[in-house]
Amino acid sequence: MAQVPIAVLISGRGSNLRRILEMEADSAYRVAVVIADRDATGLEWAQKVQVPTRIVRWSDHPDRASFTAALCDEIDAFSCEFVVLAGFMRILAPVAIERFPSQIVNIHPSLLPAFPGAHAVEDALEAGATETGVTVHLVVEDVDAGPILAQRSVPIYPGDDADLLHARIQEQEHELYPQVINALATGKVEKA
Ligand code: GRF
Repeated sequence: MAQVPIAVLISGRGSNLRRILEMEADSAYRVAVVIADRDATGLEWAQKVQVPTRIVRWSDHPDRASFTAALCDEIDAFSCEFVVLAGFMRILAPVAIERFPSQIVNIHPSLLPAFPGAHAVEDALEAGATETGVTVHLVVEDVDAGPILAQRSVPIYPGDDADLLHARIQEQEHELYPQVINALATGKVEKA
């Protein structure tokens, strides 16, 4: 069966991208392009396996709508059926959700709706929580608020700092995200 083309969007080191690429051979998806909003180090993972990369710079666009439209044009140029946000640190304008309805997915390092936002790991520690986790969800206009597709919990231990906890969370992310993307590509996703 032909693999479903997906775009992966990153801003950082791309450890989730790396796992998504590693699992591709056994999956129903194919990473058709990796797009970053900056010179993200994670682009190297794509270059190593000859997956095309693009940079759509935030600073090259006058506003969020035109930045998002440029991103969507790149995604369309590779006929992608799903858009996978993997540490992408920009909020997309509504035009992206209009162009790819129920086709954009994000991974967030907490058990949403607990600890939304860009500092989820630190916020869980500061709150004195004993448990946090990982959420994969569809992207809607409101940040970190879309329908939840899958979650995994992660314990918080006394003495954890943000690096330790984030590393424990990422172990779960690396297992869960390729599985959910594979399920999306096979049309087998049910909302949690
Ligand atoms: C992950 O922890 C993800 O949950 C969050 O950003 C981080 C990206 O990590 N949205 P990486 O770049 O994939 O290593």
